[in-house]
Amino acid sequence: MKRPVHGGDVYAAARELKRDVRQLLDFSASINPLGPSAAAWRAIKEGSELLSHYPDPACRDLRQALATFWDRSPEEFLIGNGSTELIHLLPEALQIRHLLVIGPTFSEYAAAMARVGGQISSIMARRDDGYRPPLEQIMNDLGKFRNTRNSRPPVDAVMLCNPNSPTGQVCDADMVRKWARRAARLGQWCLVDETFAEYCEEVSILPEDLPAQTLVLRSFTKFYGLPGLRVGYAVGNPKVMKRLGAHQPPWSVNMLAQRAAQLALEDKRHSRRSLRFMEQERSRCVQGLMRLPGCSTFPSAANFLLLELPARLKAMRVVSALRRQGILVRDCSQVPGLNDRSIRLAIRSRADNDRLLSSLSEIIGKSRT
Ligand SMILES: Cc1ncc(COP(=O)(O)O)c(C=O)c1O
Repeated sequence: MKRPVHGGDVYAAARELKRDVRQLLDFSASINPLGPSAAAWRAIKEGSELLSHYPDPACRDLRQALATFWDRSPEEFLIGNGSTELIHLLPEALQIRHLLVIGPTFSEYAAAMARVGGQISSIMARRDDGYRPPLEQIMNDLGKFRNTRNSRPPVDAVMLCNPNSPTGQVCDADMVRKWARRAARLGQWCLVDETFAEYCEEVSILPEDLPAQTLVLRSFTKFYGLPGLRVGYAVGNPKVMKRLGAHQPPWSVNMLAQRAAQLALEDKRHSRRSLRFMEQERSRCVQGLMRLPGCSTFPSAANFLLLELPARLKAMRVVSALRRQGILVRDCSQVPGLNDRSIRLAIRSRADNDRLLSSLSEIIGKSRT
């Protein structure tokens, strides 16, 4: 099986460019530019004694903290080694044989299905529509996907990434709930990846009771700025969480990760600062990108922007030129449903973003001469 290519492999880039990782500017993974909460950092730096025992296999304190945060019961939570581990548990644990996704979207859903020999179908949001997910149309068509065609099993689960990566588009919470209820009536699982939803909590379906057969995924990677610790969580019916957990290897989340995630979650001040910063910096970056001749961006509710380069300028060329300068961005030209001029850019600090804008301006300028 071919592994999907993701952003964030700074180690490969450092080797290739013969530079130290710290000399790279990584816009290819979308991580909170303010970094993690200071309390989480401290727990990591001072937490070495946590490594002298096995980690809590049930992640009790973190699940309790999440239960308090979301006003739910701890049994509704399962912690994973990043949300990626949880995505990969889903097909086997829930016996999903055919998953419907709304593209263009995150490639790991298809990879998880491929691992178990499952089928995947996609409905693509259209460029002309600003990549707005066609949720109403899909809702009307959900029934059709139950029918078996060409000896493929009927669709038994649907996945929505909200906000969606790499387009940044969102669906509103009421619409997602309506969609989830419809899927449940048809006997389909509704899986909602809210890995970037801390940036726009109003789209989350977590504040209310979840419709039957609905499961939500979250992460401490992006907003909480802890990509290297590997912590994510699933929320859903306690019986379903048990089923999912039974497929997980023991101790998959280490104790530093559990402790730091709990402190990060509880640091509401840092969360508010992070949100405020992102709102301002994202709109400043949009303005900067719109000034680049021939470029367009799409409205984003997350901490990244999808950039479309001018006609005839291929993403691959720009990605390589930036890489030579030690600037990493995510080439999205191979993402099904996007064109070969598509790049995803994380929003970083003001100074880093200015550096990227100036390099992009230079590369685009040169391509026109
Ligand atoms: C949409 C989406 N979901 C899930 C993940 C996985 O995140 P993690 O495993 O770090 O929690 C990513 C990572 O890029 C993502 O973009």
